[in-house]
Amino acid sequence: MKRSLILTLAFLILTLALMAWPSEPALAADPNNGERLARRWCSACHVVSEKQTGTVAEAPPFPVIARRPDFSERTVAFFLLDPHPKMPDMALTRAEAADLAAYIATLK
Ligand code: HEC
Repeated sequence: MKRSLILTLAFLILTLALMAWPSEPALAADPNNGERLARRWCSACHVVSEKQTGTVAEAPPFPVIARRPDFSERTVAFFLLDPHPKMPDMALTRAEAADLAAYIATLK
């Protein structure tokens, strides 16, 4: 009896968790997570914040990207899903790409 109650509760919690998952609006990008991702995955080549100095390649610093007149969060997020050859394909998820784009947008 107790055991089945626990199982039922566990099932309920799992169901609720799964229901909550996709209801997270796809466009609510999280720039804080984007910053974390940028530091981890992008800072080897890009200047990812105003504070960082010195980088390696010809990769444009993120603040520079953010200030381009044609900058758009959507375009950057889209680009990150399928970057061009000079940049490694990091197999980012849509959410990660959106978070990164949202973070870059904060550097304007
Ligand atoms: C191995 C080095 C490297 C890493 C790591 C890297 N990039 Fe890049 N990235 C480049 C280079 C080089 C360019 C410039 C490519 C060019 O001009 O052809 C670039 C260009 C870009 C651009 C500009 C594209 C445009 O429209 O001009 C964006 C945005 C960008 N990177 C985002 C990121 C993000 C976000 C990450 C981390 C997830 C990342 N990059 C990681 C090397 C890198």
